[in-house]
Amino acid sequence: MLLRRPDDILPSEITPPGVYEDRRRFIAMAGSIALAGALPAGKARATTPSPLGPIVKSPLSTVESQTAYKAITTYNNFYELGTDKGDPALNTHKLKPTPWAVRIEGLVNKPRTFGIDEILKLAPLEERIYRMRCVEGWSMVIPWVGIPLATLLKLADPQGSARFVEFISHYDKATMTRGVLDWPYNEALRLDEARHPLTLLAVGLYGEVLPIQNGAPVRLVVPWKYGFKSGKSIVAIRLTEKQPVTAWMKAGPSEYGFYSNVNPDVDHPRWSQATERRIGEFSKRKTLMFNGYADQVASLYTGMDLRRNF
Ligand code: MTE
Repeated sequence: MLLRRPDDILPSEITPPGVYEDRRRFIAMAGSIALAGALPAGKARATTPSPLGPIVKSPLSTVESQTAYKAITTYNNFYELGTDKGDPALNTHKLKPTPWAVRIEGLVNKPRTFGIDEILKLAPLEERIYRMRCVEGWSMVIPWVGIPLATLLKLADPQGSARFVEFISHYDKATMTRGVLDWPYNEALRLDEARHPLTLLAVGLYGEVLPIQNGAPVRLVVPWKYGFKSGKSIVAIRLTEKQPVTAWMKAGPSEYGFYSNVNPDVDHPRWSQATERRIGEFSKRKTLMFNGYADQVASLYTGMDLRRNF
């Protein structure tokens, strides 16, 4: 991400949905169990309850065609598991998603540690089909499963002085990438962005447990921002008064700002952000302001200079 613009996946490299469905049917017939990091048993999904339990459909979903599961799970940025797009899917053994706990700390009246099972029970799990746009110029439509982050934040009871929320990812230097970024990976939002109804803590996709390469067992999803704002495999959520410096801001302050709202009018210093390639499509499409979520989120930035606050 920092070094080049790897907008290099061709539609021909992505398994078409029909082939993919057939493959999943075959796997279901073969009695494969849907495990985190493994290809979910497609047809079984329709008849067997998901290991996540009941999932309700969210009205906040887009109706656009969803990107193939294979592309979502084999074309990843998860530098702890390798810096090539295919590496995270090949290195899932480097992250054990159970047991897992997430601490909520800093400027909260009720600091707490939640086990992943507790997080699953905090609110009805929702399917949220979101457009996701990477700063590198490609996009996907992903059916996430998760709960609003606001639910978790409310339980921790943020103090009046809290203005930002930092998300810290798991890092194990014995097994994971060294160098490249200042580990652990961290990201941050303003508190009002973190509380926004679109901001999701995702625990699954395509109705199944979140694959490791997509940030198991729990990751952030902020659909109006470039993909890197969505920290993966989160172990701590910290409320602060001061704006945190994030991993990408440290690595390239002129390229990666704090806000990183999808904005076709503000170029990355090395390439335009006016268009994007939806993975699986041939021609480029125009990038939309706030990734098409302007109606819901533009008011968060009223009066701000979005070129300066990029
Ligand atoms: N989180 C961690 N911990 N490490 C990472 O390298 N990469 C980010 C973001 N979250 C990253 C991360 C980037 S650059 C992107 S585009 C998205 O994850 C990719 O998420 P996806 O693989 O589910 O599409």
